[in-house]
Amino acid sequence: MSSLVDHDVFQQRINQFLKQQLEQLVVNDDKLHKAMSYGLLIGGKRIRPYLVYITGEALGVSLDDLDGIAGALECIHAYSLLHDDLPAMDDDDLRRGKPTCHKAFDEATAILAGDALQTLAFDIIANHNFSDAVKPKQIKLIQQLVTASGYQGMCGGQALDLAATDKKINLEQLEVLHSLKTGALLKASVLMAAECATNITEQEKKSFQEYAQHIGLAYQVQDDIIDITSSEEQLGKPSGSDLAANKSTYPALLGLQGAQQKAENLFQQALQALARLPYNTQSLAEFATFIIKRSH
Ligand code: IPE
Ligand code: IPE
Ligand code: MG
Ligand code: MG
Ligand code: MG
Repeated sequence: MSSLVDHDVFQQRINQFLKQQLEQLVVNDDKLHKAMSYGLLIGGKRIRPYLVYITGEALGVSLDDLDGIAGALECIHAYSLLHDDLPAMDDDDLRRGKPTCHKAFDEATAILAGDALQTLAFDIIANHNFSDAVKPKQIKLIQQLVTASGYQGMCGGQALDLAATDKKINLEQLEVLHSLKTGALLKASVLMAAECATNITEQEKKSFQEYAQHIGLAYQVQDDIIDITSSEEQLGKPSGSDLAANKSTYPALLGLQGAQQKAENLFQQALQALARLPYNTQSLAEFATFIIKRSH
């Protein structure tokens, strides 16, 4: 992560912002609040917020505006992980180098903490102190977050993932599955930040969307690869988990080399989309490189 421009700065910034959001909540149930903090504040690469900040920066959007978008997306992501690790889904015991939320607390609390983090995301985006330029776009931003996280996005992808477990699906189906369960939130990170820009054209938005689609899919292809090639210590989550659960993954379908080639192709396509943009997109290009090189 240290190779990414300003990653540390943005990581600290979003951590501070998220901490404040939790502190602002009137605490009625201490255990639930602790589980939310556990799921949201401990660890995490914060790549969705990072993408929001670097996209917004390239387009001249203020960091204060971007905080609301980055914060909301990270809350959705954290909730998705709490639920993804539950026995009813992937049944994993380790996340970010620590016991998963349902292990550290209990299943009911992990479910509720996920639920409450999801609603917190919409609370943030609806109540953030956006600048006058962005305020009129708030409903559109909420719609984008709904599409990315709900039935047509992450949740729909998780359902396809579960349905494909213990089954063989074809490449086309796997691409849809991956693009939804992981790609949708990453795409939203880029597009919601771009939505805040004042002078962006529809054509430029299209190129951002193409970039985001390719890196979003590449991120999950690489996640499947490192599930095989990295250790539990590197990952902070169990390795070999997909194989053990008989999940449909790119390496399962194409072999390890085939999956690596797929990630490389997506990387090249992402760079081609960036090359069409009249902005300084170097951080976005470096982020694409990080995705296909990452080992955790
Ligand atoms: C893990 O997401 C789940 C996937 C969508 C592949 P991240 O790799 O972003 O996990 P954290 O937030 O850094 O722990
Ligand atoms: C998770 O995919 C995607 C979401 C949580 C939406 P995985 O199940 O592959 O994520 P990890 O490997 O447990 O982090
Ligand atoms: Mg899963
Ligand atoms: Mg999982
Ligand atoms: Mg995985």
